Amino acid sequence: MKLKRVRAAVCALIAAGFTSFATAQSSDDDARLKAYGKRLSSQCTNCHRIEGSDDRIPSIAGWPTEEFIFVLKAYRDGGRAEPTMAAGAHRLDENQMKALASYFGSLKPSGPRLR
Ligand code: HEC
Repeated sequence: MKLKRVRAAVCALIAAGFTSFATAQSSDDDARLKAYGKRLSSQCTNCHRIEGSDDRIPSIAGWPTEEFIFVLKAYRDGGRAEPTMAAGAHRLDENQMKALASYFGSLKPSGPRLR
């Protein structure tokens, strides 16, 4: 039942692109958080390639959680001024940022970082 609800919510999320999503799971369970991040990641991997960076878009794999969340918040709060990421980061809640950090952080780093 719960899983179905999550799945439906994720479909809506993907359809709407970056969307805030009140039913986010607030679980301490790392595996679940990571799985949630993996589902959310489809809205990032259109641009960010998991297997490496391309010319303009940096790789975001293998970052420490704290740093990943810090950078997302920098886009959200204007510390980093980049309209595409700012728009996306605005629509992520805390738990979604954690989930994405957990998933992308578990991937092998590839490609150079921006800063
Ligand atoms: C429409 C394309 C696009 C989408 C979708 C997108 N990004 Fe980005 N992202 C970018 C670009 C372009 C940059 C480089 C911005 C800059 O110059 O600061 C970037 C930068 C970043 C950085 C900083 C990288 C670095 O090396 O400093 C992180 C972290 C990041 N994005 C995470 C995400 C996450 C998580 C998602 C999904 C929720 C996402 N992005 C979705 C285009 C995108």
